[in-house]
Amino acid sequence: MAKKLNKKILITRKFPYPLLKLLDENFHIEYFDNEDPLPRKTLVKSIQDCDGVVCSLNDKLDEKLLQQSKRLKIISTYSVGYDHIDLKYAQKSNIVVTNTPDVLTDSTADLTIGLLLAIARNINIGHSIIFSKKWTESWSPNFLLGSELKDKTLGIVGYGRIGEAVAKRATSFGMKIIYYNRTRIKKSIENLHNVKYSTLDEVLSSSDFVSIHASLNSDSFHIINEAKLKLMKSTSYLINTSRGSLIDENALFHSLENCGIAGAALDVFEVEPINLRSKFLKLNNVVFTPHIGSATNEARFRMSDISARNVLNFFLGKKPISLVDF
Ligand code: GLV
Repeated sequence: MAKKLNKKILITRKFPYPLLKLLDENFHIEYFDNEDPLPRKTLVKSIQDCDGVVCSLNDKLDEKLLQQSKRLKIISTYSVGYDHIDLKYAQKSNIVVTNTPDVLTDSTADLTIGLLLAIARNINIGHSIIFSKKWTESWSPNFLLGSELKDKTLGIVGYGRIGEAVAKRATSFGMKIIYYNRTRIKKSIENLHNVKYSTLDEVLSSSDFVSIHASLNSDSFHIINEAKLKLMKSTSYLINTSRGSLIDENALFHSLENCGIAGAALDVFEVEPINLRSKFLKLNNVVFTPHIGSATNEARFRMSDISARNVLNFFLGKKPISLVDF
């Protein structure tokens, strides 16, 4: 067996195969075999003598923690999002940050389409009607009427990898796609994907469904606020599989309660897990899933492989597979 590198890597929780084996073969590791995130105190203590860390989006790697992690050279997050990491401080301290893009794109796009169909066709309401024993008539002409997707407009906010994958899927349902992105994509690509660029306000005011695929940062925090929600049609739906804080949840609640928009499908929340007393849970025009965009065996296996290889490449002096651009 090859000699281990003289580096210590912290693995903050139980990640799927093959991460542990790969890192254990090559490094000294401190591994926490737990399904739950590490308590902050344990994280702070354990990271101090480590050269690298593989973490999840539950581990808040803020300035305070990073200041105490003097040996740390690489943060490999087992996620595409990195809003839990203080990138400015990492850059200042020459700490490399890597993530796991691409490999979870299809899974997240699939879930988005699942949510789109669920709200368009009242799948969650139908499910709960049966479970609450309220399905009393076998078939009825006016029962649970939803909306076809064909010819409807899907507005995509954030046209990165996942936004594009959602657009491709939605096109095959016959939907028209408009998108807003900070930087407009090339005209030739727009034509190829059959998507039209619009301002954020146009996307919100003319779409039947709006799906958010932006990353969370100080510019995009509450990008969907009260004023933006007011632009949406009262018959339209909002879907979010990115980050909860892209939407002002209070404003969304008021819009949903007062029929400002017709409904929402949310996989992510400002506070996770959602508070069981959250007023959102009283609404019947929302479909909820518990932050499972990348939760497929295929995506999680590949995320595991890449987050380990990012660390290995780095300490072997090679380029990590997916460096976060500062
Ligand atoms: C999940 O939300 C991720 O960022 O990978």
